[in-house]
Amino acid sequence: MKFEDYKQYLSPALAKATDLVITKGEGSYLYTESGEKYLDFVQGIAVNALGHCHPAVVKAVQEQAANLMNASFNLVNFAPTLKLAKRIAEKSPGDLGCTFFSNGGAEAIDGALKLAKAYTKRPAIIAFEGSFHGRTIGASTVTASNSKYRKYYEPMMGSVYFAPYPSKDLCPKGMDEEERSAYCLSRIQQLFDYIVAPEMVAAILMEPVQGEGGYVVPPLSFVQGVRKLCSEHGILLIFDEIQAGYGRTGKMFAGENFGVIPDIMTLGKAIGGGLPMSAVVSTPKIMGEWHPGMHGTTFGGNPVAAAAGNAVLDVFESTDILTHVNEMGAYLKKKLAVLKEKYSCISDVRGLGLMVAIEFSHEDGTPGGDIWAKVKQVCIENHLLTLNCGVHGNGLRFATCLNVTKDILDKGVGILDKSIESVIS
Ligand SMILES: Cc1ncc(COP(=O)(O)O)c(C=O)c1O
Repeated sequence: MKFEDYKQYLSPALAKATDLVITKGEGSYLYTESGEKYLDFVQGIAVNALGHCHPAVVKAVQEQAANLMNASFNLVNFAPTLKLAKRIAEKSPGDLGCTFFSNGGAEAIDGALKLAKAYTKRPAIIAFEGSFHGRTIGASTVTASNSKYRKYYEPMMGSVYFAPYPSKDLCPKGMDEEERSAYCLSRIQQLFDYIVAPEMVAAILMEPVQGEGGYVVPPLSFVQGVRKLCSEHGILLIFDEIQAGYGRTGKMFAGENFGVIPDIMTLGKAIGGGLPMSAVVSTPKIMGEWHPGMHGTTFGGNPVAAAAGNAVLDVFESTDILTHVNEMGAYLKKKLAVLKEKYSCISDVRGLGLMVAIEFSHEDGTPGGDIWAKVKQVCIENHLLTLNCGVHGNGLRFATCLNVTKDILDKGVGILDKSIESVIS
């Protein structure tokens, strides 16, 4: 089957990185119909925490599908979904422990914004430049990682304001990390002073580690400073943990790297073991103001996704996945640091745990999105699938499965090394 023959039946809006038609996935590999094997460092965009078709997840899905696929969580209760909610509560920090299940990340973001408005009875939201939160109109409104995601959709949801995220691209040149932190916090204060009174702000929404925007790790002082501002003004802090959460940064939730507990967090991607699932998690007190019928879903909390989600957590627990992520993340970073020494076009290696990216730049320091595009193409020819990030598309993010081995990292970085060499020579 050739993608070209079917392309006309699909909307071009969904950008396609390759024309591969895949029939099978196993661990870190994808296979085409003809049996060609590709090393997958994308994993459904950081979805398959345990790789493709992990036997425990497959078993859980098959068993659950044979018993009950859905009867709507509105109408009746499903044991796997109840169990998953309890397990998320046990793993979540602070009082976070009350969950609303939905189907995809953007849907959870919309839910979190609605919850913050319902609880505070305030209209405004502050989000960050560089952030990505999804494609519904609500999630697109709070997204500012690329203007093309918003083009032609104006006017969007009202009363959304942006402050810069403390990345080097969004702050005045020459600032160090702490200066960027202070600058960005002062810009939130400026919003309060000039544009939106803090008592009108329902929530500040942030990715504790920025994903699509460039795998940017903010300074501790910034995340703690945002928490402090929220607490001072009765504003709810929402952490979008959809990409960074669920073990990827080496902690169960990315916010834990900063010792900060949000009031609401959104989960997605990894939680359904590859099936569509997302969640809004908050405290019983805040959730208590979301009265029956104020939000809803047909598919959310479906038992098959929940069974897969429980299998993911079973494996996390039985394999001490967080220790593994930290070890493999350190190993990967060390290997990438060697590549940085070797190639002057790699200007940065950054990240936490297995949420790691490298950045390509030209000799004059300008972003090398074109370098990445060439490297990506050669990587595909060499059977390695990669994904980029950042507004200029010059970041290469590693979204391997969390149970990745040294051997697989060696293979992938080896292909990358060879591909960069052929592009620059
Ligand atoms: C941080 C973050 N939030 C929200 C989303 C949107 O998730 P979905 O594509 O499942 O709607 C994404 C997707 O990449 C994401 O990375």
